[in-house]
Amino acid sequence: MGYFITFEGIEGCGKTTQIRLLAEHLKASGRAVTLTREPGGCAIADKIRAILLDADNRAMLPHAELLLYAAARAQHVGEIVRPALEIGNVVLCDRFTDATIAYQSNGRGIERQTIDTLNNLACGGVRPDLTVLIDCDPVLGLERARRRIDTSSGPREERFELEALAFHQRVREGYLALAGGEPHRFLIVNGGDSIERIADTIARQVDSRMEEQQHAVR
Ligand code: TMP
Repeated sequence: MGYFITFEGIEGCGKTTQIRLLAEHLKASGRAVTLTREPGGCAIADKIRAILLDADNRAMLPHAELLLYAAARAQHVGEIVRPALEIGNVVLCDRFTDATIAYQSNGRGIERQTIDTLNNLACGGVRPDLTVLIDCDPVLGLERARRRIDTSSGPREERFELEALAFHQRVREGYLALAGGEPHRFLIVNGGDSIERIADTIARQVDSRMEEQQHAVR
């Protein structure tokens, strides 16, 4: 089995930049890396992503949203994540099951048990070995996310950026609570630090944890 690392955090925390830098670091040290994201990561899930993030879909109900995330995840895990882990790759995924807990439970208020049931159904036993949480003040994150959306040429994926600040504060607290409950799985980094410093912390931690795992297997 390979090694599964997920990246989490609120909008604009910098995880997409950091996941790319970690992919480069791992490739440079000779690892086979699969870099992917949720929602999306394969053709069917990318179509579901477009529905989920379209700002015109503001009328979407919380349960419909939750089921679409679960559907996208079931396809993505089956088609991309599990096969890549089975051939021994390091899989880096930009958001995963913790996002559903933080956004749909802490953010939207859906009961946790329903989310856990759907996450388990979609993942069929695939779980992250390590989750990097880039913790960030929502005021800073939203400012960065809006700047990115205003300067990008693709479709405006901003349904969540349009949520109130209080929503993003609940999401941030949800992530921190998850990390507090599973300190061994989570690595929390400060999203206010420089890009280089964050990348260096993540690379060192990932190297040492993957080495630990290899020793445990031997
Ligand atoms: P991204 O902007 O990091 O690509 O993520 C897309 C949006 O989807 C982001 O606002 C967080 C949200 N999201 C959820 O609400 N639940 C989930 O399960 C996932 C994976 C993402």
